[in-house]
Amino acid sequence: MTGGTHDAAGSGAGASSAPEPAGTRAADGTGTAHGTAPGTGGSGFHQMWRDLRAIGRHAGSGGYRRYAWTAADTDCRAWFRQEAAARGLAHEVDRNGNQWAWLGDPAQGDAVVTGSHLDSVPDGGAFDGPLGVVSAFAAVDELRARGARPARPLAVVNFGDEEGARFGLACVGSRLTAGQLTPEQARELRDADGVSLPQAMEAAGHDPDAIGADPERLARVGAFVELHIEQGRALDLGDSPVGVASAIWPHGRWRFDFHGQANHAGTTRLEDRHDPMLTYATTVLAARKKARLAGALATFGKVAVEPNGVNAIASLVRGWLDSRAADEDTLAAVVGAIEQAARERGARDGVDVQVTRESFTPVVEFTHELRDRIACLVSGDAPAPVLPTGAGHDAGILSAAVPTAMLFVRNPTGISHSPAESAAEDDCVAGVTALADVLEGLACR
Ligand code: GLV
Ligand code: MN
Ligand code: MN
Repeated sequence: MTGGTHDAAGSGAGASSAPEPAGTRAADGTGTAHGTAPGTGGSGFHQMWRDLRAIGRHAGSGGYRRYAWTAADTDCRAWFRQEAAARGLAHEVDRNGNQWAWLGDPAQGDAVVTGSHLDSVPDGGAFDGPLGVVSAFAAVDELRARGARPARPLAVVNFGDEEGARFGLACVGSRLTAGQLTPEQARELRDADGVSLPQAMEAAGHDPDAIGADPERLARVGAFVELHIEQGRALDLGDSPVGVASAIWPHGRWRFDFHGQANHAGTTRLEDRHDPMLTYATTVLAARKKARLAGALATFGKVAVEPNGVNAIASLVRGWLDSRAADEDTLAAVVGAIEQAARERGARDGVDVQVTRESFTPVVEFTHELRDRIACLVSGDAPAPVLPTGAGHDAGILSAAVPTAMLFVRNPTGISHSPAESAAEDDCVAGVTALADVLEGLACR
């Protein structure tokens, strides 16, 4: 493997009260939480969840701030290393900082890999990412409890910097590995304090000169399966705790720079102002309307203002648009219409508008062959439902190079990217069982 490091142990991670899988969905509504299904590795799941849950949790918001290459990220990585060591799995960090825990010899090839990510959005929930990693280790435990004998190598993976919360680009670890982000592009990424990705990597002990495409590694992966909490309510509206992904909507991030003129809030006549906040506000409303009319999604969730003074008209408002749609033509039309609305309003306000596409992820259709096989492997009274998602995932990046599939675990509120994100404990256990079924079906026959 290219540019990786191996080791066998890690430092511990603390525990405190923080979100746990909560409450069963017993059919009679009387079920209590904390049941552990025989052989599911349920107690292992609990222990892992407890060990991980304090890391990077903000006491004020109750949400997670696990940003790439920060101390919280380092602690999450130590946790992963420790879980690998506890199971006798060979741990390695690849050239792009992704962590792998191997059961079997990767050199054999045709490996079955499962996992997700441990980083978070600002004040994110406990499940987006970690559920897939914890469930992956628990599924390995479950396979062992079943006495299953994998004929293919198995690995658990933690992809670095999936959310892009710090450097603005999502899925940096998997994009680099898949060659969808060049080292040159990655080296240009900077956080809000001007720290570059290489500087942050180096400060966290990773060699930034090693980053780059890793086709040799990907060639050894025969299948990748990512389990993830559902980030909507499709499963909750049905009867199934676990579903299978059909597709990921195309999505992207666009930076809108509204350049106006700084001036005195208390003396400048309204007629004389070039106030970028007005242009920005109108653009936010336009985004909502254009998305609604097209059946798409458009969100300004991040904004920066200069000089950011209460008694000063802003000189610059910078807003980041996240937009997603079922198909690429619709997405392009929506973003184009939002951009046009911004420019029209800017012309009225005497504000210059610049739009920069910062990232774009094309539509992902998961291969029918693997998806259908997995839907059959997930045991239940009925075939697992198959559903698309608007959320981005490392699975979407890898799908261009490797047969890839996703499992979703029911989210009773649909809330995600929020401290209120939740999943019922028995649904999490059902997710582990489903993942173990899939791994057994793929690796042991
Ligand atoms: C990641 O969760 C994304 O969809 O942006
Ligand atoms: Mn996310
Ligand atoms: Mn995620």
